[in-house]
This record gives sequence, C-alpha cells and structure tokens, in this order.
Amino acid sequence: MKEIKTIGILTSGGDAPGMNAAIRAVARTALYNNLRVVGIRRGFSGLINGDIYEINLRSVKNIIMLGGTILYSARCPEFMTESGVQRGTEICKEAGIDAVCVLGGDGSFKGAASLAEHGIPCIGIPCTIDNDISASDYTIGFDTAVNTAIDMVDKIRDTSQSHDRCSVVEVMGRHAGYIALETGVSCGATAILVPELPLDLDSVSDKILTSLRSGKQNFIIVAAEGVGDSSVIAEEIQKKVGIETRLTVLGHVQRGGHPTAKDRSIASFMGHYGVELLLNGKFNRVVVSQNGKIMDLDFKSAFNMKKHLDMELYRASQEISI
Ligand code: F6P
Repeated sequence: MKEIKTIGILTSGGDAPGMNAAIRAVARTALYNNLRVVGIRRGFSGLINGDIYEINLRSVKNIIMLGGTILYSARCPEFMTESGVQRGTEICKEAGIDAVCVLGGDGSFKGAASLAEHGIPCIGIPCTIDNDISASDYTIGFDTAVNTAIDMVDKIRDTSQSHDRCSVVEVMGRHAGYIALETGVSCGATAILVPELPLDLDSVSDKILTSLRSGKQNFIIVAAEGVGDSSVIAEEIQKKVGIETRLTVLGHVQRGGHPTAKDRSIASFMGHYGVELLLNGKFNRVVVSQNGKIMDLDFKSAFNMKKHLDMELYRASQEISI
C-alpha cells in the first residue's frame, strides 16, 4: 500500500456543531506528524470539482468554538454514480491526495466506502446532529443540538404557561427520535413523539385530559420531524383536548451555534484518533464511540450494526411527566 503523505479532509451532509473542532484535530494531528493536509470544500461535490486548497497549522486557528464547517458542506447525488466516484478518485490522484478523512453521517460514509473501493483510503468521523449512526453511541453535534432545542423549549414553556396552552415543538432528527427523546426528557415534555413508535394521538390526548383534571394547565409535546406533519398533529390535539395548541418548528437553529464542551472534546479526540489510524496503516474504517469508548470499525461492520432508541428512558420519562 502506498505510503500516506497527504491527507484530504471534507465535510459532507448536514453540517453539525463540532465539525470545525474535528477539522482542526485532523489537520493539526496530521501536520504534527509531518503529513501534508488539504481541505476539500463542499463535500464530495467539491472533490469532483477539484475545490481543494492547502491547509497549514494556522488555517484552522480560532475555529474550535465555531459552529458550521469552514470546509462548507453539500449533498452530492452525483457521488452515488460510478462516474462521479471515478472522477473523485482521479482528482485525488491528480492532487496527490493519499487518503481522505470524511466528516459526516451515514450517507457520507457510503461515499467514503465508494472512494475506498476505488483505491483511496478513507476514514469516517461521525458528524451529524441526528445521532443516527448505528455503529456509534454518539455523533458529533448531537449534544449541542439537544442543548439548543432545550433552550428553545424552555422559552416556549414560558409563553405556553402564560396562556394555558399546549405547545407542540418539532425537532430535527431525520428518520430518528434521538433529539426528540433527549430534548423531551430534559424539558419534562408531557409526550414525546418519535418515529420508532406508532403515533397514538388518542393516548396523548387522554394523558393531557388526565393531567388537566389534576390541575396541570400547560403542556409541551416534543415531536420528531420523522413522525409526520406536526401541524396536523397540533390541530388533532387541539380538537381532541379542546385547549389552544400552538406549533413551533425549531428547524435549522438546531444545526448552528457554538459547540458544547462535549462536542469539542469528542470531535478533537475522534479527529486525532482518525489520523492515528492512517499513520498506523489502518484505513477504510469509521471512528465510533461504543459504551463511551472511542474505537474503530471497518465500513462493512459499521454499516451492518443496529442501534435502538433507549425505550427504558422513554418509559421513565412518560411516567415522570404525568
Ligand atoms: O441530517 C441533519 C439534518 O439536520 C436532519 O436532522 C434534517 O432532517 C436534515 O438535515 C435537513 O436537511 P437540509 O439542511 O438539507 O434541509
């Protein structure tokens, strides 16, 4: 296998707070070990278009605390085609890129695996606010997104309380309920709607009516976007329960903001760990957290793993929020 002298870094998919901390850790670890580092802007789309620039120690200064990604990000359907991957591979060879660190979610890791199949060693570092990468207990950005959502829901509770209302708050998470569950538990939501469970608005309404009878006057319902149309959910609850119900869709505020200590720290460690894999001749692997320990898995094992929502936490939260 060719010696790795130059590492490329790209960020792909939805951006996540902590991506910049990971970029910084990859770049600084590589440069510390006398490797050349290049940044690839706008994910695999930028790779195909040769949007590449030199990174030095100072290129990544003062970014650890910044949300977003200095490398920009993009989704790239073209990289799901053979011609797109071949083009990306050619660009890597032309640019003298010996290996690529891909920061993103499961879709981005599929792109990395395709690049690896064409002979470019890759390392995946899990960056998505959704926390929906099955091989890893944790993905960079999740803690910051949840804390942003908690802050927003606490503000919504102020006005919900002032008006004796029910507030439905839609959070992100794509097809998973990790953000919804963590936010709902932390905000004392009366109900937490997640795509991993059937949607049962009769039970939600019954719970609200029971709590109304015991004197509770305002309600927070946290709904994962993957559950469905939250405006319909809000309307249905208002009809069934008979109290004013308002919907707030948090949207992309969950994607921004200064990364929390947890995200900065995990991103720094995962970035360093990923480069050390390459230095030790281990590649085509995903850096993951399992039982709180940072480790690595080959792409195939990572893609075949399953992860489930913590239903014990879900059940406890529902009993506590009567
Ligand atoms: O994957 C991260 C995420 O924020 C999801 O939670 C959300 O559904 C999606 O990206 C939104 O994508 P976009 O930024 O392209 O609208």
